[in-house]
Amino acid sequence: MTRAAPMDPPRIGVRIAGTGRAVPSGQLTNVDLARLMQTSDEWIVQRTGIHTRRVCDRSKGESCLPLAKEALTKALADARMDARELDMIILATLTEEMPCPPTSCQLAAAVGAGPCGAYDLSGACSGFVFSLNTAWSMVRAGLHRTVAVVGADTLSSYMEYNDHGRATAILFGDAAAATIIRATDDTSKGIIAQAMHTNGARWADLYIPLTMKHFPAEDPPEQAMIGRLHMNGKSVFKFAVSTFPEVIEQTLGRAGLRAEEVDHYICHQSNARILEAARERFGLPAEKLYVNIDKYGNTVAASVPLCLDELREAGRVREGQRVMFVSFGAGLTWGTSLWQL
Ligand code: UT7
Repeated sequence: MTRAAPMDPPRIGVRIAGTGRAVPSGQLTNVDLARLMQTSDEWIVQRTGIHTRRVCDRSKGESCLPLAKEALTKALADARMDARELDMIILATLTEEMPCPPTSCQLAAAVGAGPCGAYDLSGACSGFVFSLNTAWSMVRAGLHRTVAVVGADTLSSYMEYNDHGRATAILFGDAAAATIIRATDDTSKGIIAQAMHTNGARWADLYIPLTMKHFPAEDPPEQAMIGRLHMNGKSVFKFAVSTFPEVIEQTLGRAGLRAEEVDHYICHQSNARILEAARERFGLPAEKLYVNIDKYGNTVAASVPLCLDELREAGRVREGQRVMFVSFGAGLTWGTSLWQL
């Protein structure tokens, strides 16, 4: 693991001022899936902890942009601010509406923002955590005072709900969640330590080919898999089980904190067994490592902010606490963001 340079003492504090979430109307339970493919509720629950997931109903116009709009509108209301106060919108997604324009620009218009900056950040399941670290840097450097960080993904469009696609169709769900990051005079607030890593040599563990040339040497090119998510589940599972504890330890080391001095670990929801292994490794009580994968499945860039919004709404995540966001995913990528709220 690389060493991070020591940080200068902050002159500007950074706080999380509001959060919001949105899920589509459609629901696919394990029982529904068992009608569409060779699988069972028991198999899915045992291997993943997932009971149901939300999926976009395209006939109702549900997709990434409307979900992101609803989540950001709620986050703005929660922060008691007007969209015109936004200086920047970062939209973490790999399911943008179209290659051009950036969906974040349509999002800015949809929520009624002024001529703020807006861009998409493609970081797969690490997209939100990478964007959060980026947004914090902007505010702390004095470049911007208010940044919206939105995670929105609708992987259902890359799934096949039949036997051919059962290895991934059971895992993923659609959602969006937003966070408003603002400057504050309280310099005790903001990121204490963070980490962002990549191992591009492992890209073939998770990919969506768009042409026959995109297939890696180890996978035979298959027309039926064009535009579908390929996943080497076992390999990703092993990677996640070792990486979660490593990156948490690295971040605690950078912050000079012990595991129990952090109030909440808000982790990417990819598999309940991966989360449980990380919790046991640090001897954390269940209430410190939130799990909502049972209701939503893996919602990619939305997964971490979805947990944050639910925890804030329940009054469990509060000002004054220390919270570590942790993610990993396609790339391969992995990262953290440890906050003093
Ligand atoms: O955001 C990051 C994204 N990805 C992840 O985090 C995924 C990490 N990996 C995983 O969570 C697990 O690898 C899975 C849950 C995806 C799969 O669990 P596994 O224990 O690794 O199963 P497997 O792929 O080794 O498959 C075991 C068996 C196979 O049958 P055989 O060869 O033993 O006869 C599969 O064909 O289960 C079969 N199988 C299924 N059976 C029922 C695969 N998918 C299904 C299914 N229902 N949906």
